[in-house]
Amino acid sequence: MRIGPYVLPSQVVLAPMAGVTDRPFRILCRSLGAGLAASEMITSDARLWHTRKSRLRMNHEGEPEPRVVQLAGSEPDVLAEAARANVALGAQIIDLNMGCPAKKVCGRSCGSALLADETLVARILDSVVRAVAVPVTLKIRTGWDPARRNGVRIARIAEQCGVSALAVHGRTRADFFTGVAEFDTIREIKSSVTLPVFANGDIDGVQKARKVLDFTGADGVMIGRASHGAPWIFRAVNASLCSGILAPPLLRADLRDIILAHLDSLYLFYGEESGVRIARKHLGWYCAQLLEDPAPVRRELLAAADTAAQFAHAVRHLGEWVNGVDSVGPMTGFPCGGSRNDREEKTSA
Ligand SMILES: Cc1cc2nc3c(=O)[nH]c(=O)nc-3n(C[C@H](O)[C@H](O)[C@H](O)COP(=O)(O)O)c2cc1C
Repeated sequence: MRIGPYVLPSQVVLAPMAGVTDRPFRILCRSLGAGLAASEMITSDARLWHTRKSRLRMNHEGEPEPRVVQLAGSEPDVLAEAARANVALGAQIIDLNMGCPAKKVCGRSCGSALLADETLVARILDSVVRAVAVPVTLKIRTGWDPARRNGVRIARIAEQCGVSALAVHGRTRADFFTGVAEFDTIREIKSSVTLPVFANGDIDGVQKARKVLDFTGADGVMIGRASHGAPWIFRAVNASLCSGILAPPLLRADLRDIILAHLDSLYLFYGEESGVRIARKHLGWYCAQLLEDPAPVRRELLAAADTAAQFAHAVRHLGEWVNGVDSVGPMTGFPCGGSRNDREEKTSA
C-alpha cells in the first residue's frame, strides 16, 4: 500500500490517540508491525507550541519514516501555516483530524464537528494540500449523526482536493464511542473513491481485521484501543494479512522484554516525574491484558512513587509471571501473538 512516495511495510496502522500515541508508543508499535503511526494531534495554533506538552508531541527523534503529524484546527490558512511549519520540523505526512468527537478544541470547532460544513472541509483540504509538498491524509468519521452520514461526499471532496489517503472511523460524530462501529458506510466510501482507505473502529484482533478488510474492500485497517496493553497486536495482524498464516506465539519472556523496554523508553522521554505517571497508564493496560487477576499487581505497580520503584516492581511481577507462578495458567503466550481477544476466540473455537 502506498501513500505518496511511501510504500507502507504493513496494511495495519496505529490510530492517532491523544494521550497514548506518544513517540515511545509509536516507535514500539512500528517495531512490532504497524505500517504507520501518526502523532498525537497538535493544535494548528502555533501560539501554543511552546508548552512542554506540545514540544513533546512535536518530537520525532528516532522515529521510523514516514513520520506523520496530525493537525487539528478549523481555519484553512492557519492549518496551512501549521502544516508548513511541521514539514520544516521533519513531518513527512500531514494528517488532518476530522475524526475527533470533541466539539471544540482550543475554543473552536474542529475534529469531526467540521464534517457538518462541507464547504469549509473543502477549503481546509485545498489550502493544506497546496501548502506542502508532502502527502496530506485525512481522518474522518462516517458523518455528523446517523441521519447525516455524509462520509461519501467528504471522501469525494478529499479526493478532488488531492488528499493522499483517508482513514474512516465507522461511527458518526454523534455516536461518540457508543454502540458498535458500522462498516457499510466505509464500504460505500471505498467504492466511491480511488484513494487508499483505512477502515477503523472496534478492530480488536486478527479475525476482525480480516473480516473488515474483506467486507469493506479497504486497503488497510487502523487499530486504536485494542493496542492498549497489547502493542503486539500489529505483529499478529500484519502476519495474518501478509501471509494468511498465524504468527508463532509470543512467549511470556518476549512480552516481558517488550514491556520493560517500553517502560525504559517512557522514563527516558518524559523524565522522572511525568515518566512514572504516564507509565502507570500503560502498566494498568498491560496488567488487564495479561493477568487473570490484575487488581493486586496493578495496585502495587500504580502505587510506586518513582521510576526506580515502579521498574523494580514490574521486573519482579513480570519475572514471576514468566516463571508461571501467577494465576494465568499453563499458557505460554497468545496464540498467534495477537490480543487477549484473539486468545479467547481461539480458546472457544
Ligand atoms: C484515548 C483516545 C484518544 C484519541 N485521540 C484522537 C486524536 O487525537 N485524533 C484522532 O483523529 N482520533 C483520536 N481518537 C480516535 C481513534 O483514532 C480511533 O478513531 C477510535 O479510537 C476508533 O478506533 P478503535 O476502535 O480501534 O479504538 C482517539 C481515541 C482514543 C480512545
